[in-house]
Amino acid sequence: MADWDLLLTDARIATMRAGDAPYGAVENAAIAIDGGRIAWLGPADERPRKDADEERSLGGRWVTPALIDCHTHLVFGGDRAGEYEQRLSGISYEDIAKAGGGILSTVTATRDAEIDTLYASGLRRLRALAATGVATVEIKSGYGLDTATELKMLGVARNLGHASGVDVQATLLAAHTVPPEYAGRADDYIDLIIEAMLPEVVERGLADAVDAYCETMAFQAPQVAKLFRAATKLGLRVKLHADQLSDGGGAELAAHFKALSADHLEYSNPTGIRAMAAAGTVAVLLPGAYLTLNETQQPPVALLRELGVPMAVATDCNPGTSPLCSMPEAMALASRLFGLTPEECLAGATRNAALALGLDSDRGTLEKGKRADLAVWDVNHPRDLTYWLGRDRLHELLIEGLPAG
Ligand code: NIG
Ligand code: FE
Repeated sequence: MADWDLLLTDARIATMRAGDAPYGAVENAAIAIDGGRIAWLGPADERPRKDADEERSLGGRWVTPALIDCHTHLVFGGDRAGEYEQRLSGISYEDIAKAGGGILSTVTATRDAEIDTLYASGLRRLRALAATGVATVEIKSGYGLDTATELKMLGVARNLGHASGVDVQATLLAAHTVPPEYAGRADDYIDLIIEAMLPEVVERGLADAVDAYCETMAFQAPQVAKLFRAATKLGLRVKLHADQLSDGGGAELAAHFKALSADHLEYSNPTGIRAMAAAGTVAVLLPGAYLTLNETQQPPVALLRELGVPMAVATDCNPGTSPLCSMPEAMALASRLFGLTPEECLAGATRNAALALGLDSDRGTLEKGKRADLAVWDVNHPRDLTYWLGRDRLHELLIEGLPAG
C-alpha cells in the first residue's frame, strides 16, 4: 500500500494561514492527501520521498481551501420575486413585512411545502453554491416557526448534506420572527422554542447551533438572552442576526454569550464591536442583503479591522433579502460595497468562515491534518476571485480528498 492516497503536483497554493506571506502563497508546491486529510504540503523540492496511489499535476493552477458559506437560509418554500418588484416600486422591506409579507410569506409557503419539494429546491441551490467552490454550508431553519416545520427544515438540511457531499451545518433559527399564532405574544413563543423545540432538536441531533433575529420587527435583546441561556445550558453554541436594520444592542448581546458570530452589523455601535473583540466573536458580513435592501449604512469595517475582529463573508442566501448562490460573488460584493481587500474577502470565505462555525481546527486553511477540502482555480492569482463578477473559474473541487459532485 502506498503512503498517500493522492499527490497533487505542480500547484500554487494559498494556504490562507494567518500571519504567513500574503494569502499564504507558496509557488511550485505539492499537496499529499491521505484518508481525506492533508498529509503533507509545501514546496515541491522539500517533499518527502513517499509514494501515492495516484499522482496528478495541476498544471500550475492555484489551490485554496474550499470555500465555506457560513450563513444561509437556503431551504425554503416559494420565492419572493414579486416582493422584490414591489420594493423596486418604493415599498420598504419593513412595510411589506408589516402587511403580512416578508418572512411570514415564506413561512406560509414553507409550512405548505411537501418535504420532497423543499428538498429538491434546496438541493438545486446547494449545488449552485457548491459549483462556486464551496464544500461547507451552514443552513438555518426559521421559515417554519412551529415545532413540526422547524424540525422538517432541519431534517431537510441534514439530508441535503448527505445527498450532496457538501458538509452541512444546521442552525435552529426558530426565533426568526413571531409567528402569526403568537402575534403580540413574543415571550410565549420564546417559551415554546425553549420548552418544545430545543429539547427535541438536541435529542435528535438536528442542529449544530442556535440563531435569533434581534430587531425591532422580530425579537428584543431580553427575549434573545432568555433563549441563549437555554441553548447554552443544553451545550449548543449561539450566533445572532445583529443590528441589521437598527441598533438593537445585538453585537454586545452576542459577545455576552460568547457567540460564534454576530452577523450583518450595519448599525452596531462601537461598544458592541469592542465587546465582540474581547469575546472572540466573528463578524459575518452579508453584502448580498445590504445590496438587495438598498442599505446605505455600512458595517463598521474600519473598527473591526482595527480591533482585530475576524471578518467572515457569506451569501445569506434567502428569498427575501439576498437571493444569492455564489461565494465568489459575495466576496466581490464585500470588496466593492464594504471595502474589504481581496485577501480579506478570501480569508472571510475560508479561515474566518470556519471560525464562525466553530470548525477552525478542522478546515478553513490548508494545513497538515486538516480536511482535504480544496478548490482548484483557473485564475492568475487568488485576488482574481474577488476581482471578477459573474465568472465561473472553478477548475475542480475536492471534498475530503475526493472530486465533488
Ligand atoms: O438574513 N434578517 C433576517 N433574516 C434574513 C432575511 C430573511 C427573509 O427576509 O426571508 C436575512 O437578511
Ligand atoms: Fe440571515
